[in-house]
Amino acid sequence: MMTPIKTIVVAGARPNFMKIAPLMKRIAEQNSQGAGERFEVRLVHTGQHYDQKMSDVFFKELGIPEPDINLGVGSGSQAAQTASVMTSFEPVCLKEKPQWVIVVGDVNSTVACTLVCAKMGIRVAHVEAGLRSFDRTMPEEINRIVTDSLADLLLTPSEDGNENLRREGVAEERIKLVGNIMIDSLIENLPMSRQATLMSRIGLKPGKFAFVTLHRPSNVDCKESLASIMAEVERLASRLPVVFPIHPRTRKMLSEFGIKTSEGRGLQLIDPVGYHDSLSLTENARLLLTDSGGLQEEATYFRTPCLTLRPNTERPVTVATGSNRLTNLQRLATDIDEFLDGPERRGQIPPLWDGGTARRTLDEIRNASRR
Ligand code: UD1
Repeated sequence: MMTPIKTIVVAGARPNFMKIAPLMKRIAEQNSQGAGERFEVRLVHTGQHYDQKMSDVFFKELGIPEPDINLGVGSGSQAAQTASVMTSFEPVCLKEKPQWVIVVGDVNSTVACTLVCAKMGIRVAHVEAGLRSFDRTMPEEINRIVTDSLADLLLTPSEDGNENLRREGVAEERIKLVGNIMIDSLIENLPMSRQATLMSRIGLKPGKFAFVTLHRPSNVDCKESLASIMAEVERLASRLPVVFPIHPRTRKMLSEFGIKTSEGRGLQLIDPVGYHDSLSLTENARLLLTDSGGLQEEATYFRTPCLTLRPNTERPVTVATGSNRLTNLQRLATDIDEFLDGPERRGQIPPLWDGGTARRTLDEIRNASRR
């Protein structure tokens, strides 16, 4: 029998969980069917996100096994959090001696674990590689650039990712187009999200509400910008009911800046929602207003009109092919009116957003192991 491929899968923050779930599932399936070389896996949760609503609920809903190791790093400044993941991940690698570490997305845990591995000579596979916003004021952009320059295998969700990496001089054999792993999770969870009860519990009807999520530092960490955004959201709520699950960062800033919100008049501010409720809101919203990366993609899959309150996106395919449009505070009111008065569903689903990405990812790691 062939020796198994010893692998650590890393997850740290909320947007990582729906990306590792299909990987963990396919690995377990393929191991039990004896399909291809086995992966001997350890799941490491860095603890970057730790709340029940930011972490536990996703493990439960997505059926991710309990992490083998939780580094428990918690919150901190960019440097403190990244450093803390690094110092706690290094001993894990020393002990486990993995052949591969799989990291996903662009959060601080992604870059921290990649840096550790690069210095220890452990091979890194980066799932969702190659995305670029070309905006280095975003912490995630720094994380993407550093992770991709160090990782050995760059697994991209769309052709633009390949182009970005080629332009940065990455050797062709390190780049593999595998498709969008988020969509594996989405497709797998559709039957469950269609049973989700949040909409009826809070009195929302399909196609007759707007779904709002905002948490980027560039939008919520500045008082003037957050106050204007809230004023726009209230204006939107005068046109149709709005549900706005509030990220902990946004809640903290609203209270720090003393920004009052006129809840009740069409606007419902609620706690962060779980994965199935989030999918259900995205599928059924008349309009999504967001600054999240993942929601731009999920909206594209559902062809839900999506306004992204950012000057750029690292996911241009959601604009070129999908239902997404970038907006800013000056244009927001016009864009909202145009979207609400325009066609109900927009855009198309990009190629390889088909549920087969985890399988293609594992195939590529096996292929690279032979090299
Ligand atoms: C992180 C990611 C971002 C991702 C977002 C999704 C980085 C640089 N950013 O941003 O890419 O879109 O997650 O949520 O990695 N907090 C809690 N409970 C938690 C976690 C955080 O209350 O479980 C609060 C803390 O006050 C913390 C703040 O939220 O200081 C921000 O958390 P942090 O992980 O630093 O960044 P996010 O804004 O969540």
